[in-house]
Amino acid sequence: MSTAKLVLNGKEYEYPVFEGSENEVAIDFTKLRAQTGAIAYDPGYGNTGSCTSTITYIDGDAGILRYRGYPIEQLATQSTFTEVCYLLINGRLPNADELDKFNQRLNKHTLVHEDMKKLFEGYPPSAHPMAIMSAMVISLSAYHPDLLDPEIIDSNIMRLLAKFKTLAAFTYKKSVGQPYVYPRADLNYAEDFLHMMFATPTQPYQVNPVVAKALDLLLILHADHEQNCSTSTVRMVGSSQANVFASVAAGVNALWGPLHGGANQEVIMMLEDIQRDGGDVQKYVGMAKDKNSNFRLMGFGHRVYKNFDPRAKILKKAADDVLHALNVSDPLLDIARGLEEAALHDEYFVERKLYPNVDFYSGIIYRALGIPTQMFTVMFALGRLPGWIAQWKEMHNDSATRINRPRQIYTGEAVRDYTSIDQR
Ligand code: SDX
Repeated sequence: MSTAKLVLNGKEYEYPVFEGSENEVAIDFTKLRAQTGAIAYDPGYGNTGSCTSTITYIDGDAGILRYRGYPIEQLATQSTFTEVCYLLINGRLPNADELDKFNQRLNKHTLVHEDMKKLFEGYPPSAHPMAIMSAMVISLSAYHPDLLDPEIIDSNIMRLLAKFKTLAAFTYKKSVGQPYVYPRADLNYAEDFLHMMFATPTQPYQVNPVVAKALDLLLILHADHEQNCSTSTVRMVGSSQANVFASVAAGVNALWGPLHGGANQEVIMMLEDIQRDGGDVQKYVGMAKDKNSNFRLMGFGHRVYKNFDPRAKILKKAADDVLHALNVSDPLLDIARGLEEAALHDEYFVERKLYPNVDFYSGIIYRALGIPTQMFTVMFALGRLPGWIAQWKEMHNDSATRINRPRQIYTGEAVRDYTSIDQR
């Protein structure tokens, strides 16, 4: 085993170095503070590994993404979302009988307790769906106790996976003041979600296979992404032995941020602003480079990908295919393409290796599917759910898991005595 040497205050220390299955190298600092009294300081954790994991592998320089070793490009064209759920959570692809049983188990749990509908009544129609979804996920823990009984955990995972899409559709119905539509066991995951979203008492939803397939693809592409902000949040919360509902509810909250899953909604709002402003993409590329402008090119850049996000590549083509198949033309797609073209030929973006990420084109497709902008981040969460669950389960079942408790460097006041209020 190789080691890394550290010299601190004239004293030399050695730390073990280990490699992952894709030859990523890590220095094991688990004993750093005990031996040196010093900590490793890495705000944003850009250089810090919180765990080892067998679920997802990303090579940001090469633009590689694999779920349990399978390239995202193959899963995108050959798999289905529920098969990817099975793969991420169980570590291998199911055979036909296993997948059929998995889908049947999901269909058994799609209904939510009727009393949960009362929870929706407390929200104004204008409530952001992510606020409601976070509350609904944590509320599931009130309806399904025995949260950490090993026999029950698997059932609760299936319940969460099945009920999330029902709750997401109910959240949309709440926002438009329409009655809730109940799930149907004769439809696949994507078809059933679209049915619950768009069927009304007077107008049954006619499943459009192009729309359902496009949604299934979007869900596959969002399913996991190693230790991103929301997944790390799920692991952080779960490390205290909080149950899967509580941990995933925390992940929903982290995903909502505009720098993370909220970016897909921000991209569309940015493209609409550019359209209203006459479509001058160069002006906005210029603003993105100007530190004083407070403007960022939403859907661009990534902490890990310093090459094209492979999901963005797939979505860029899918946007064309879906809009063509649905005979939809969206001026925002032309603006997005112009923006991408301008940015990718601009030194500022090239130098910083800023490329379109998963959020840049996903919103164009959601729009074509009839999904409102306010629901875009819920769609991201719907896709990411199996990844959060798989990562929570891996952490929960790892006997080496310790409660996550980072350190800090204090830079505040030195010790001082309390003074009575009349002396201040
Ligand atoms: C997701 O982690 C994941 O895997 C996330 C995700 C997943 O699947 O879970 O992939 C999903 O969250 C995708 C990212 C969605 N967010 C956005 O599209 C928001 C816009 N992007 C940025 O805010 C930014 O690129 C981040 C948040 C994605 C990454 O931020 P970093 O790694 O902290 O990078 P940074 O802010 O330090 O930027 C480095 C430089 C800076 O310039 P300098 O200080 O070097 O001069 O690049 C600039 C930044 O100003 N920069 C941008 C930019 N992104 C980075 N400048 C203009 N527009 C941008 N979008």
